[in-house]
Amino acid sequence: MLLWYTKDKAKVKYRPLFDDRTYVGDDNLRFFEDESYAPFTMSPEQLAGFAPLPTGAKVYHPNPITSARSSGENDVRLFEFKGRKFSPGTRTFSTNEMGLSRLRNADRLLAIGNTLRFKRYLDDFRVMTRNNIWDNTRQSGFSDAKVYVVQTPSIAIQQAILMTTDPGDLILDPTCGSGTTAYVAEQWGRRWITIDTSRVALALARARIMGARYPYYLLADSREGQLKEAEVTRSAPSSAPVHGDVRQGFVYERVPHITLKSIANNAEIDVIWAQHQQVLEPLRAQINALLGTAWQEWELPRALPDAGDVGGWKTIKLDSINPLSDKGHKAKTLINQWWQARIARQKEIDASIAAKAEFEFLYDKPFSDKKKVRVAGPFTVESLLPHRVLGVGADDELIDPASPKAMERQAHYNDERNAERNFVQIILENLKTAGVQQAHKQDKITFTSLTPWPGELVCAEGRYAEGDAEKRAAIFIGPEFGTVARPDLVAAAREAGDAGFDVLIACAFNYDAHSSEFDKLGRIPVLKARMNADLHMADDLKNTGKGNLFVIFGEPDIDILDAGPEGADGQLRVKVNGVDVFHPNTGEVRSDGADGIACWFIDTDYNEESFFVRHAYFLGANDPYKSLKTTLKAEMDAEAWASLNSDTSRPFEKPKSGRIAVKVINHLGDEVMKVFRVS
Ligand SMILES: C[S@@+](CC[C@H](N)C(=O)[O-])C[C@H]1O[C@@H](n2cnc3c(N)ncnc32)[C@H](O)[C@@H]1O
Repeated sequence: MLLWYTKDKAKVKYRPLFDDRTYVGDDNLRFFEDESYAPFTMSPEQLAGFAPLPTGAKVYHPNPITSARSSGENDVRLFEFKGRKFSPGTRTFSTNEMGLSRLRNADRLLAIGNTLRFKRYLDDFRVMTRNNIWDNTRQSGFSDAKVYVVQTPSIAIQQAILMTTDPGDLILDPTCGSGTTAYVAEQWGRRWITIDTSRVALALARARIMGARYPYYLLADSREGQLKEAEVTRSAPSSAPVHGDVRQGFVYERVPHITLKSIANNAEIDVIWAQHQQVLEPLRAQINALLGTAWQEWELPRALPDAGDVGGWKTIKLDSINPLSDKGHKAKTLINQWWQARIARQKEIDASIAAKAEFEFLYDKPFSDKKKVRVAGPFTVESLLPHRVLGVGADDELIDPASPKAMERQAHYNDERNAERNFVQIILENLKTAGVQQAHKQDKITFTSLTPWPGELVCAEGRYAEGDAEKRAAIFIGPEFGTVARPDLVAAAREAGDAGFDVLIACAFNYDAHSSEFDKLGRIPVLKARMNADLHMADDLKNTGKGNLFVIFGEPDIDILDAGPEGADGQLRVKVNGVDVFHPNTGEVRSDGADGIACWFIDTDYNEESFFVRHAYFLGANDPYKSLKTTLKAEMDAEAWASLNSDTSRPFEKPKSGRIAVKVINHLGDEVMKVFRVS
């Protein structure tokens, strides 16, 4: 169940969605006209959809033409149609005298018994507004592949998003799960924020969005969009300057919405009708004079019956005429001519009605450029520092430590502390078996022993061999949920130094941006190992020592160069030489080549808050060009690729902020960022 609510109904945004409407099985829609406007009622097989309708058939149903509103002085009480007078009964006609005669001239009136009806074609509005029962959202075998047990079907979220937002709007889903909301929002050009307490969920969501491919919808605020709009509306393209602003929306398919009112108000119908009467009426007069009849427009037969059809001639009271005589031939010709002109009038009036019709946008059917593929735009994954338990009640009062409530709280707090200790213990057990991985196998740190250490931040002492000597590493474990910040590392390194350790090894799920620049305090190297997210489930994890559970991804070794021959004066280039690796055999930190790097990015004007990818380069060993080409199923410009597949950047202007940031990502998805001041 979906609850949609608003504080102020007047401000609510609602974009209706529509479903196609069909006559199949709809008893109201059992009438149709053929191409020459001759009326028929469907056979049961046709109505059930088992037998086709003739080509060009126009399905219609007789709609009420009266409403329950109380009538006023000017309302029509009697209207003449096909020689009979019709009253609205106890109700009121929906339009005035002029409107009714336009409907009549447009052949939109039907006399059903004593009631006047509006002939409403299925094509007047061939869709139905989707109401509050969404039976198209049920999971089917064809829906998205499920990556999360409680994954919501995309179609349900898509429908909610399309009904209540426009491109560029912001969508918040505080229970991210597999990220369906973000995935769908990204597809439809909405901005999004999503939150989850589970890292499993966030990891799935991140992978899902990063791997997504979307259609390329035509933006209204683009040249292609302007051209498409012109094509759809059959008008000259706008020449307004374009800015590619997604907030202007997409170019959508639309359906005509012809209403009784739009026909009643269409004065062009009068003009077209009058013009055609000049042809039709003289023909009718000739027919009546020739045959001695007094046929009104609506009484003229479609054609004269065949010569042998005696019954047919009798029905139209013309059995005195010899169909094979000159008179018979002439009458046939005149009637054919009259009908041709009559059909021409109808076509012209219908075209006028269609041209003046309103239309509804199909917000779920934007036009797309089939030759382009779109991937997700840039996004970040952030995490918060761990929560702290405060000694303050929900009512803002300090808690009396002796009150039962406080004791309960204390017990809960102790449980949490125990859980925390338990977490540290499990991590240490895994660390002991798995060791600390680096880019190359030979640089793995394997502990000969790992024992608890009663420090403030340092919780264990790990011993390992450096050549023949034994070295002591202080181990610092970050929080189970949260990020290690630079000050934590500084304090832990100080503690390690004071206690005579040789190195500090920090193990955490996440480090804040500033800690990446911190790699040494005095003589103590600070190694930052990233813990694999599997360790969140360490309780259930088989401790096999396999799998890269603790990985150090060192600082990138980067040179800032002059622009070189390609660039202009004062411009810069960046070169990545590799990533610093701690060599446990020698205790040295040395830069390792660029092959460990999958990709690297530059924010050429870093604002110290968020990293904006302004340059991206892909170094990858296994020809990422090839796999990207396969994914995108397209040829890429080899020259353009070469400039991306490089350890040296293209030249760029000096940053206005005075800082650039370089982010380097390895094949395991670990990333480090380094900020440089550039004057
Ligand atoms: C039913 S799932 C959402 C499914 C999601 N719509 C999808 O398509 O995958 C609910 C999610 O809410 C998360 N969650 C539960 N309590 C939460 C809380 N207090 N804050 C944020 N997320 C929470 C759970 O971890 C779970 O991933």
